[in-house]
Amino acid sequence: MFISRSILLLFFAFNISTAYTQTLHWQQVAPGIWKGTTGKPETYDLLKAAEVSPNKEALSKMGSPSFPLSQSTIIAKQTDGKTYLQLPLTEQEQLYGFGLNFQTVNQRERILQLHVDHYSGTDNGRTHAPVPFYVSSKGYGVFINTARYITVYAGTGVRRDSDNAPAEQDRNTDPNWNPQPYSDAVEILIPAAGVEVYVFAGPTPLDAVRRFNLFNGGGCLPPRWGLGFTQRVKSLFTDQEVMKEADEFEAKGYPLDFIGLEPGWQSKSYPCSFAWDLTRFPQPAKFIKEMLQKNIRLNLWINPYVSKYSPIYKNILPYTASHTVWNGAIPDLTLAPARKIFFGQLYNAQIKPGVSGYKIDEVDGYDNWLWPDVTVFPSGVSAEQMRQTFAVLCQKYSTEIFHQQNKRTYGLVRGSNAGAVSFPYVIYNDYYKHEDFITALINSGFCGVLWTPEVRASANSEEWLRRMQTVIFSPMVMINAWASGTKPWSYPDVADKVKELALLRMQMMPYWYSAFARYHFEGMPPFRAMNLEEGFVQNSSPEKGNSSLEENPYTLATVKEIKDQYMAGDYLLIAPLFTGESSRKVILPKGKWYDFYTGTYAGDGEIISVSSGLDHIPVFVKDGAIIPMQPPLLHAPKAGDKVDIEFRHYGEKDGAYKLYDDDGETFDYEKGAYSWRTVTMKRNSRNEWEGTISAPEKNKPNTIGKVNWKQMGTDHQQ
Ligand code: GAL
Repeated sequence: MFISRSILLLFFAFNISTAYTQTLHWQQVAPGIWKGTTGKPETYDLLKAAEVSPNKEALSKMGSPSFPLSQSTIIAKQTDGKTYLQLPLTEQEQLYGFGLNFQTVNQRERILQLHVDHYSGTDNGRTHAPVPFYVSSKGYGVFINTARYITVYAGTGVRRDSDNAPAEQDRNTDPNWNPQPYSDAVEILIPAAGVEVYVFAGPTPLDAVRRFNLFNGGGCLPPRWGLGFTQRVKSLFTDQEVMKEADEFEAKGYPLDFIGLEPGWQSKSYPCSFAWDLTRFPQPAKFIKEMLQKNIRLNLWINPYVSKYSPIYKNILPYTASHTVWNGAIPDLTLAPARKIFFGQLYNAQIKPGVSGYKIDEVDGYDNWLWPDVTVFPSGVSAEQMRQTFAVLCQKYSTEIFHQQNKRTYGLVRGSNAGAVSFPYVIYNDYYKHEDFITALINSGFCGVLWTPEVRASANSEEWLRRMQTVIFSPMVMINAWASGTKPWSYPDVADKVKELALLRMQMMPYWYSAFARYHFEGMPPFRAMNLEEGFVQNSSPEKGNSSLEENPYTLATVKEIKDQYMAGDYLLIAPLFTGESSRKVILPKGKWYDFYTGTYAGDGEIISVSSGLDHIPVFVKDGAIIPMQPPLLHAPKAGDKVDIEFRHYGEKDGAYKLYDDDGETFDYEKGAYSWRTVTMKRNSRNEWEGTISAPEKNKPNTIGKVNWKQMGTDHQQ
């Protein structure tokens, strides 16, 4: 009797732990990338929405490493109609990513529910781009291909069956009692009966990120003009007011490449008509043409909810959802007829006459405004899946329209997700904490999205300048004056400094353009965390918070995060100062670093203090760097224009740099119409620095005019 009861119990225990375990079928899908399938994955997922082909050639060039983990340590189970995934986590490992977070870089020990939303001030997974991808400090990445809201326990759960279960501690007597005992797993709950999980090899975390980006088609390559200055004008501006503003920029000598028109360009907005307001813009085609003659492109604000006054309302209605947003019909963009009608209107009324891009608003949240999860879409795609992918669909299909015209676009979007890496859109939002804007910029580099710390208005000129100093080192240099009406010169005591910054951005255009080309061709994020930088060491010993036991009996020991300095392009380390600060500490990775402005030596693998006053944002340059600079133009060079370049070399190491070149406006680069010019800087036999640049390739675009070399840190100029 006793024996049979034990057997029964054993059988029961066996059932609990294994009854729902599912096999993960692994398959290599590209060099260094594997797909694991468990259960019955849904037919609609993030990759299906984006439908992008991996850049297999670039992935092959990165080599073919072996699977970075032990496959048997990745476990899938079915429970409660959901899929549970368990991935290994070792003691010293740190996790980065899980979307566009604003306050934290280290994601270990966090619980997140990844859900497309407007960021509300807490890193809880609800954000504009909750990309279900993470990268480990051990040098591998993991992506969950689902369009569901998933819950991530990033090393919080402690299982009884863990091989490394932490010892129980007694809080009464143990001063080191840990409220968060060591967890040996990342656990993820997906509300679906199956899922695909992708693993990306390293060996470095940056390699894993690059593989993720290349798997998603590589980063976007903006047109050159997209990297210039952009101003968004007040919402109800008329064509005359817009032109006057453009003229003011020109007359005052501030650069400007594109102007953003906010809701008032349309006859109706919230919901939208997608048709010009003929009282404010009586002759749209003429206006667009005149603006283009001034070298200014136009970007139009929309939110994709169709007003009954829109010319497309009747036609699109059969392809819209059961619910509305601000009473506007929501087009089901997974359906071809809906896309044809919706994007057809944008094409005919705006793109064909010459509009260069869109700002696609309100495709993220908030819950009260967006469609509820009970909404029914005619395609059968669930409201939840639509919420997770709507912004991706908007980006994909608007990009396609420009692609058909062989014209590049560069726009703004308030939501995104995995799969959108190659779409030329930059995320922004209504939240405005400067420090958090920088942390978002850092995190954008972990998840294949771009983010702008846009400038709107400021409490004082100091804040205005500090914000300008960071936005010029970001993917889009923008003043969003839709409500405030601010202009770069709005704070007169710093107006000249703002002009200098805007012109510096223009001078650095070849540097930014080449950085984006590396994003496109090699998957290298143009703006990224220090944690992805070789030689970056940070003190990893945990520090205990200082709140008293009474205040918080569960205070966690945390490792300090580096969320206020970042890498930009190949060589630059940006260390922003925020309002009220006049000095700061900067962690320099191993290797020599130099001051960007003067070329003087700054340090090597150490923490330095910098005090640069209001004048400058501290920027440091890697030893051997070559930074290409063009003249401080007011507009990006047009296709075919020749531009002189000064190559600035920093430090003692020989310089070797690849400068990217193409026409800057079309997609001809996809057919091979581009070149990488090799630039070097070395000491010659007389011990003087001497630069070389490879000859232009035959039948390839060549926009490089006269070339000049400068060794920074000396007055010597060749
Ligand atoms: C907000 C958007 C702002 C501005 C505004 C216009 O949703 O985030 O940047 O475009 O709409 O109504």
